[in-house]
Amino acid sequence: MQILDGKALSQKITQKVKEETQELKERHGIIPGLAVILVGDDPASHTYVKMKESACEKVGFYSIVHKMPASINQEEIEETIRMMNNNPNIHGILVQLPLPQHIDTTRILELIDPSKDVDGFHPYNFGRLMEGLDTFAPCTPLGVMEMLAAYDIDPKGMDVCVVGASNIVGKPMAALLLNANATVDICHIYTKDLQSHTKKADMVVVGVGKPNLITADMVKDGAVVVDIGINKLPDGKLVGDVDFENVSKKASYITPVPGGVGPMTIAMLLKNTLKAAKQRIKA
Ligand code: GUN
Repeated sequence: MQILDGKALSQKITQKVKEETQELKERHGIIPGLAVILVGDDPASHTYVKMKESACEKVGFYSIVHKMPASINQEEIEETIRMMNNNPNIHGILVQLPLPQHIDTTRILELIDPSKDVDGFHPYNFGRLMEGLDTFAPCTPLGVMEMLAAYDIDPKGMDVCVVGASNIVGKPMAALLLNANATVDICHIYTKDLQSHTKKADMVVVGVGKPNLITADMVKDGAVVVDIGINKLPDGKLVGDVDFENVSKKASYITPVPGGVGPMTIAMLLKNTLKAAKQRIKA
């Protein structure tokens, strides 16, 4: 069994982004700029945004965080997005999800200029992803693909079971794997017999948010197991969706939590922002 070390790999990618950022500054006078919109006081969202800010600082990006109270109205968020769409120093715009109940999230995401949509949540980019075209792919599934590539794990021809069908993880994950020529099975909360799907898979990718959802009896010997879940237990311990201790005894490769997919997500945000900035280079 080999651990897929997302922490080490993300550091390597971050270093590369830093070098390319320096080059972009020197050659073209462009400093990649990321605007983050954070609404309300969800502690997890605040933690994620702090991590994103600090990552931007590390690689020499310009970044701003628009913090707004949970009581803000739709129009005020939309006005901020319009401002960021028109700001030439901003190349990437990210709205931290979830937004408060009274906000229409779809309308907010659809307002982001697709060329600045570094989270890949705009339907235009999602559509391009489905078509297998160049696009901004959502950072978490993109991080999984980078990790597989770094360890020479080629999904081509593999039976892959994706557990979780969210718009930001499961669906784009399935699209990326399908584009990489895997045979993809997507399971979700209404799947009748989850084990019958996971058990026959060469690779299981799970992002649901339920500790111990995937147990050893649910995976095939030698399967690749990718755990996207992040759950905080009552004692404060962070765990994924996979029973790591027992599943790792059967898997050929497995991601730990923490230190697996999590750090890759932020590295991909940096990569996508750099990509958006590079698209501004005048021919
Ligand atoms: N909330 C949970 N994951 C994400 C993410 O990847 N991006 C944003 N913007 N919000 C999130």
